[in-house]
Amino acid sequence: MNERMNKLLQTAALGKDEGILIHKPSNMFYLSGYTGEGLIAAGHGFQAIITDFRYTEQAERQAPGFDVLMVEKGVSHAMLASELFAQHGVKCVRYEDDEVTVRSFEAIKEAIPGVEFASLKNAPETIRRIKDQHELDCIEEACNISCKAFDQLLGFIKPGMTEKQLQIKLEFLMLELGAEALAFNTIVASGVNGSLPHAIPSDKKVEMGEMITFDFGAKKGGYCADMTRTISLGQPSAEMKKIYDTVLYAQQTCEDMLAPGKVCKDIDTVARKIIDDAGYAGRFGHGLGHSVGIDIHEDPRLSQLCEDPLEVNQTITVEPGIYVPGLGGVRIEDTCAITENGGRTLVHAQKALLIL
Ligand code: GLY
Ligand code: MN
Repeated sequence: MNERMNKLLQTAALGKDEGILIHKPSNMFYLSGYTGEGLIAAGHGFQAIITDFRYTEQAERQAPGFDVLMVEKGVSHAMLASELFAQHGVKCVRYEDDEVTVRSFEAIKEAIPGVEFASLKNAPETIRRIKDQHELDCIEEACNISCKAFDQLLGFIKPGMTEKQLQIKLEFLMLELGAEALAFNTIVASGVNGSLPHAIPSDKKVEMGEMITFDFGAKKGGYCADMTRTISLGQPSAEMKKIYDTVLYAQQTCEDMLAPGKVCKDIDTVARKIIDDAGYAGRFGHGLGHSVGIDIHEDPRLSQLCEDPLEVNQTITVEPGIYVPGLGGVRIEDTCAITENGGRTLVHAQKALLIL
């Protein structure tokens, strides 16, 4: 059993007669290296990937050390898990109650009779909060690719291009520079569209005098980058400049606060106060940041709901924004790593307002 699976058994305090089912793709990848479909069934002294013909060889290659069991006509994933659990005397199955659908759960209960079911209580995600060196290296590499792509994109941005054209160019550059995939759907929001925090790139043309927000990230080694930059095409209005300066000040102040032991909620409070005091109360309606890893949004969160202290080797984004309908918006975001000495940004793109 590998180190991460051993840690999972410990973190979940798995009893001798308990088993685990993992359905969440990000948890399967973290625990085994396997990226295909299916599930993991495990317990003390056994670990198996249950999948179908399309993925059996892939599972054997990606997850040596795991048994690979193949479903076939009339033999479902849950039936194979049931046999495995029966062989190992499992009386209680711990499963991801935030992932398994009601319908799948009913099918699992039917196929695995005579056992109890209980929540795994996000034990894998608890372990995933602290990144090891390999994970940090992947995230840093993903950030480097994203920064390089953005740097190259800057030379292409011209008035009259559409948001979609800019999105496609940026995504192409990330893939060309070595991204294996995109971490999430790229956001490009120009002018008045900047007030939409998660704008979908449209056919709107970018024009002189507008700000453009780019929120994007590459994926490398299975790990995500997350960064946002807002630039100005020509001179911005005085109001947009004030919004930019406010967001930048909030962003840099909070990034400078990052350190082990700092309570997540308190950092979010500082950003919110800077933005409220500048006259934009209510215009920063999302949390200040989130951890990043295999998934783009992981715990902990820099938000009013998170009282956890930051810990060494966590990652965290710092991404304040101001959104004013009818006018536009600004967001600036770095992905950072928490070190013993404070925060270390993994994003090195310019944050001072860039006027093209
Ligand atoms: N980068 C998108 C988000 O954090 O929601
Ligand atoms: Mn983000």
